[in-house]
Amino acid sequence: MSAIPNTAAPVLEPVLEIEHVAVHFGGLVAVADMNFAVHEGEVVSLIGPNGAGKTTAFNVITGFLRPTKGRIRYRGTVLTGLRPHEVADLGVVRTFQKTSVFDTNTVFENILIGLHRRGRCTAWETLLGLPRVRAEEKRLREEAVEILEFVGIARRASELGGALPYGEQRLLEVAVALAARPSLLLLDEPVSGMNPAETSSFMRLLARIRARNITVLLVEHDMRMVMGVSDRVVVLNHGKIIAEGPPAAIQQNPEVIRAYLGHGVRGEGAKRA
Ligand SMILES: Nc1ncnc2c1ncn2[C@@H]1O[C@H](COP(=O)(O)OP(=O)(O)OP(=O)(O)O)[C@@H](O)[C@H]1O
Ligand SMILES: [Mg+2]
Repeated sequence: MSAIPNTAAPVLEPVLEIEHVAVHFGGLVAVADMNFAVHEGEVVSLIGPNGAGKTTAFNVITGFLRPTKGRIRYRGTVLTGLRPHEVADLGVVRTFQKTSVFDTNTVFENILIGLHRRGRCTAWETLLGLPRVRAEEKRLREEAVEILEFVGIARRASELGGALPYGEQRLLEVAVALAARPSLLLLDEPVSGMNPAETSSFMRLLARIRARNITVLLVEHDMRMVMGVSDRVVVLNHGKIIAEGPPAAIQQNPEVIRAYLGHGVRGEGAKRA
């Protein structure tokens, strides 16, 4: 046994690498020369005022938009130019800022649709119970129940997605994303519209997601949540990164405070208008 303790910090591997990414919409520069990395096991928050380019960054990472310039890599594979389902197949899965549950399908069916994204059978084959899917069906159903229990909405399994209270619809979206077995989960304002108790509960869920070795990139306006769950915070303003660092340093950063003037970067004052 060595007498000298090993105090060296573990070397974190970058999994997601964003290199010189720009997104232009005509003359509007939504994202300009963006560079940052997310490391294995981290929770990183991407914050910034409304219109800063956060959702655009998610769209470009997950293949919903092509960047005007730059390159994105995940675990060494270039994502740029891939379609959303190809990006998801590599383990990079996102939720949407606007609620995207299937209103007229049950909660359980919403999860089955998510599960099929990495299964061999289509969601509709699964829902219709065609012969070739029956063997797989039992396993998928068990997994769907497990995911619903994990996010805490198992008792809602047979209700329609659209009939859930708003906070639980947001949990369902996370459940659908988890069904795709992400290794990197991108959450776009998951607690917007949630009350403080629901937000606290979501923060505990995030800790359990992290305990499953899922790396998280979070876009969120709720600063209590951002400061409570993040290892690192990246701040965007007008499409440019203006600060990056641990939450405590970001809260004190004068440029960040200036960017948020009138929005409030501390406490709970940064809720959306
Ligand atoms: N498809 C599009 N076509 C044209 N302009 C767009 C498009 N998508 C986003 N924009 C513009 O790009 C800028 C960045 O938008 P984005 O949605 O990324 O901001 P955001 O940081 O997610 O804001 P919020 O906090 O309000 O969600 C905004 O000026 C927006 O109007
Ligand atoms: Mg957005």
